[in-house]
Amino acid sequence: MFDPKTIREDFPILNRRVYDRPLVYLDSGATAQKPRCVIEKVDELHRTLNANVHRGAHFLSEEITEQYEAAREEIRAFIGAADRSEVIFTAGATASLNTVAYSYCEMALKAGDNIVVSEMEHHSNIVPWQLMAERKGAEIRVLPFDDEGRLRTELLIELLDERTRVVAVTQASNTLGTRPDLAAVIDAAHAVGAVTVVDGCQGIVHGGVDVTALDCDFYAFSGHKLYGPTGIGVLYGKRELLERMPPFLGGGDMVDRVSFAKTTYAPLPLKFEAGTANFIGAIGLGEAIRYLRRLPADEVAAYEHRLTLRATEALQSVPGLRIYGTTPTKCSLLSFNVEGIHPYDLGMILDKMGIAVRTGQHCAEPVMTHYGVTGMCRASLAFYNTEEEIDALKNGILRAARMLK
Ligand code: ALA
Repeated sequence: MFDPKTIREDFPILNRRVYDRPLVYLDSGATAQKPRCVIEKVDELHRTLNANVHRGAHFLSEEITEQYEAAREEIRAFIGAADRSEVIFTAGATASLNTVAYSYCEMALKAGDNIVVSEMEHHSNIVPWQLMAERKGAEIRVLPFDDEGRLRTELLIELLDERTRVVAVTQASNTLGTRPDLAAVIDAAHAVGAVTVVDGCQGIVHGGVDVTALDCDFYAFSGHKLYGPTGIGVLYGKRELLERMPPFLGGGDMVDRVSFAKTTYAPLPLKFEAGTANFIGAIGLGEAIRYLRRLPADEVAAYEHRLTLRATEALQSVPGLRIYGTTPTKCSLLSFNVEGIHPYDLGMILDKMGIAVRTGQHCAEPVMTHYGVTGMCRASLAFYNTEEEIDALKNGILRAARMLK
């Protein structure tokens, strides 16, 4: 049986105090805390196995290369990719999305084409497309959401046409928690011959993914939000697309033969892994995934859902508080404002009570613009959070409101 109190013991940081109060960490959407096995794995690798991957013929290099490739296999199985060559290690989701933008669009985007991006995207799934559209003379079209936070997929029919090359969409919004109807988006995109790029950062954390069943063309996520180390991420891409795409970054490890006359490239996935990889991060991410696979996924999902309902109810009882994003299938994060209170002020006072929430634009300024606000507070929940922490948040907001109003 899944027990959050027992699980918390796996996360050493959750025992610490801030400002002499117990830490109430409600910012896992920004970065998740790490279980002891990940911390120990990273530490052990630095102590006993540090050597560059794919380079040396010596013991350490061979052994760490084996672990690096085993981590790739762990990730392949976790996301349901057909082949290990479709799993590319990057520095994070931002690097993954930029890789697709620069490489795929370099090959496929022409003047007069268009890219469809949802209004609820993180800046990482907006700006790379804008950069490429500007460079190529293409158009960005925006798929809007309604005030409840539902992505208006019924409008795809008006937005997509035979000049649509890319449709970029999130699996779960980092501000609204919305899980868009990805099947509808992917089907519509494929019907006009466009590729789909899914930002899986928040989605993979809450319920995982099966990229093969989803039939997305590209999928990006970061390790640090999935209880793994920072500085490591993954780009999944369908093999036949990755094969055709030009490399994004050039350098060591991504080449086959190099000469001044002609350079040829390494086979997948190395073609997209120029330079020394964050091999310790990759192995650490593999360890995080092994940890997650040991948890009862259904019970974890049910628990996070219960926690979200409880948090929704608790926050709704605060006078003047508005929650942004209220779709029934949302993931466990709640963005909100209290009437008459600046989100930074609220966040700062909560912090002094030991409660960590994120404040500001959440790298999703179009979402702020949609609601006509300059920022929001956001509580993002993980399976190690408890009902007592939800109560602490509610009481903290009530107390802060009394102080600020
Ligand atoms: N993208 C991360 C967040 O939503 C940092 O907080």
